[in-house]
Parts: sequence; structure tokens; C-alpha cells
Amino acid sequence: MKRDHAQLIDELSAAYAERFPRSAELDRRARQVMVDGGSHSCRLVRPFPVRIDSAQGASIHDVDGHDILDFWQGHFVNILGNNPALVTTALAEAFASGTGLQHGQTEALQIETAELLCRCLGAEKVRFTISGSLATMYAIMLSRAFTGRDLVLKVGGGWHGAQPWGLKGVYFAAGPEPWLPESEGLSAHLTDEVLMTRFNDPELLTEQFHVHGERLACLIVEPFAGAGNFMLASPEYLRTARELADRYGTLLIFDEVISGFRFRAGDLGSLYGIRPDLVTVGKIVGGGMPVAAVAGRGDVLALCGSEGGDRVAFTGGTYSAHPAALLAAKTMISYLVEHEAEVYPRLAELGAEMRRRIVGGFAAEGVVARCTGEPNELVPGCSISAIHFPHDEALALDAPHVVLDPACCDTTLSQKALQLSLLLEDVYTLFGSCALGLAHSAADLERLGDACQAAARRFRPYL
Ligand SMILES: Cc1ncc(COP(=O)(O)O)c(C=O)c1O
Repeated sequence: MKRDHAQLIDELSAAYAERFPRSAELDRRARQVMVDGGSHSCRLVRPFPVRIDSAQGASIHDVDGHDILDFWQGHFVNILGNNPALVTTALAEAFASGTGLQHGQTEALQIETAELLCRCLGAEKVRFTISGSLATMYAIMLSRAFTGRDLVLKVGGGWHGAQPWGLKGVYFAAGPEPWLPESEGLSAHLTDEVLMTRFNDPELLTEQFHVHGERLACLIVEPFAGAGNFMLASPEYLRTARELADRYGTLLIFDEVISGFRFRAGDLGSLYGIRPDLVTVGKIVGGGMPVAAVAGRGDVLALCGSEGGDRVAFTGGTYSAHPAALLAAKTMISYLVEHEAEVYPRLAELGAEMRRRIVGGFAAEGVVARCTGEPNELVPGCSISAIHFPHDEALALDAPHVVLDPACCDTTLSQKALQLSLLLEDVYTLFGSCALGLAHSAADLERLGDACQAAARRFRPYL
């Protein structure tokens, strides 16, 4: 069943343009100087994005004067809410005392942050960088150099950033070959080196290792699929991944750019009792500043330093380990470590309530909506979910290829109509993906439920 919902989207776009006139005006100006009016495609909502002038706690305030309830939370970064005083105060004090901006030196702060991260991630060594994309790229380079092999095994629907080995098989293409290269400008040789597997499918993984295992440098997988729509890996899947990697001498990379510090004060892998060879982190780790890192086995990371012959040019860049960014990182990580016992149970509670409110809001108008982001037997709670409209109510939403396939779910509704409908109620989600932070209250979740009900009323005539 495929619906294009063109009339619904036209109606929503017209109402949206009327509600956000200043943002529309700024968009015209933005498009004069920036491609599509901005610098990160997914933030450039169609027909135009809301432009904001401040962000605080659970809210963002836009140039048209709306107080918008924010479930995007800084691209899944702001686990304590937007602009938490904890970090802004630490930064203000640092700037007032004459540190903060780039100095191009190294200082004790870098050591303290690295010690903290290694402890939290169970890692021997860490090297900082400035984005998750770079972290996953370097992790793959390290694994190729370490193993002397070429092939990279990646999960369909897995997003590891806009880096050469990550740009295949992110978006689902209906047809016999669902996972294709995502970008022109890449060498075919490189995209051919990336093999695709399916999330939460241990049998397929076993078959692929059986065929290609001797040539696989690494398997890169998110223990919690992010762009693949917020699903936890099954314990069996990760266990199988670890066993196969060990058997074939392949490195296991957990990309925890989203899941790191989202489920506990550290990596998600440890809740499964599984340690990868390398882990990549970013987002929450930076406390709202651009910090990412590759951490893990000392013998693998050694390849980017003198001990390992400087074989991998993970040398760092101008802004690597930026002082203000590391201060934000250290402040945030320390807080999460100290308050782990309160932060994560509260997030789990809020997550469960959020899913109840969403499903209930749609159900009140007779629309069947389901949320991903359910916990499992090892992970007691989950604070990011996405909203889907499955054609079959009983469908198991346990892998990206299910929710991204228009034959299984009404993807036009979830990816095009939902975000605009919720924005018309002053609620910001990214294509219906909702991330919680501690700044959200029960009243905010009630408001989200009401917004879902209002969206359902708009959808109803078109279903
Ligand atoms: C799992 C995962 N890995 C890597 C990245 C890339 O990180 P960045 O956007 O910081 O480059 C992202 C970004 O959303 C991500 O979700």
C-alpha cells in the first residue's frame, strides 16, 4: 500500500507558512548564500525550517515568537536539556579566567577528560576528534591497517556519518538491492568494499562471516540503531557479532555516537556484557560542544602513534581537543557519572510515558501509530523513540529495513507529514523522532500526546 499524501502535505505546508512568516522570510535570505538555506540537510525542514533565537531546557524559542517544545534536543545531544546551566556556567567561568578559546597546546584538562572517558568506556586508550563522522572513519582506517584487510561489514540503515565508508546503505531503496551507495563522488572500489548486513539478524551475519570472514577488517554496528529508527540490538545479535569477530580475526566496532551516555554513564555495550575492539562516541559526550572520540584497545589505537609506527594518519586537526569543548565534555561526563543512579532511571520512566502518550494520542482519533525504542531484557529503559504507522498493527518493528520499507509502514506519513503536523502544534521532532532529556516534564509529555492527537485529526481524512 503506497500513498503519496500530496494533498495533506500541501495543506500542512500552507498552514505552516502562515504560522511561521518570519522564518519563511529568513529562509529566502538563507537560500541566497547557502545551499538549501543551511548547512545540515536534515535540519532543513521542508518547505523551510523554523529559525530560532534561543533554546533553554525543554524549549526552543523561534523568531515568530513561538515557544516550541523540543524533542530534537540538539541533534540528540542535550540529555540535560538545551543550554544546561551546568555547562554554560563552567564555560563562562573558564572564559572569565582567561582560558577557553583555541590555544593549540595541550593541558591537564585533556588528560582528565581522557581518564574519565577510558574509565566510563572500559577502554585502554582514547583519541579525541571533533565529529562522530571522523571518529568512525578513523576507527575503520585503524581496523583496516590492524588486520591488513579491506572489507567493511555494515548494517543496512546504519548511519556512521558522512564519511567514505559510511555512505552506503543508510536509506532504504525498494527493490532487489535495498542498500545502495548514498553519494556520488565516491570511488566504486571503495563502495564495493562495504558489504551490507541486516540489523538483528544473527543468521545472516553468520552466513556472511562464513563467506567473507577472512577478508573482513571490521564489522561496524550501533548497539542502538539511530538513523535506523531507534531500536536496540538483541542480545543474541551482539553476542553473535562478538563471537564471529573473534573467530575470524575481524575487529568489532561499536558506533556509540548516539548510545554512548544515553543509557548509562558510559557505553551501551557493557549493559550487554560485550566489549568491542573499538568504540566511537560523540554527541552527549561533548556536553553541547563538538567532541568525539575513538576509544578501545591500546594495540589498535597505537597504530596512530609513534609506538605503532604512525601507520594510520589519525593525527588530529586544528580544533581537535579544543579547550572549551573538552571542558564542556568533562563537565557533562562527570555529572552523568556522579548522578547515574538518578539520571537513567528517570529517563527510562520518561521514555515509557512518552511512548504511551504518543500511541494514545493517535489512538484517540483512531489512527494506529507505534513507537520504536522499546527496552529489552538487558537495557531497562530507552529515551529516544520514533513514531511509525505500520500497515499491519502486529508487525514487529525490530529492524531498520522494516520501518523504512513503504510496503511495511506508511513512510510518507512519518517522514513528510508528521514533522509539519507536530510543528503546527509547536512541538519539534525530527521526522517524528523524539529524544528526551531530564528537562522534560510529565506536562511536556501530555502536551506531546495532545499534539499527536491533533496531528491524527489532520491525517484522518486522508487515511
Ligand atoms: C551513530 C552515529 N554515528 C556517527 C554519526 C556522525 O556523527 P557527527 O554528526 O558528529 O559527524 C552520527 C550522527 O548522527 C550517528 O548517529
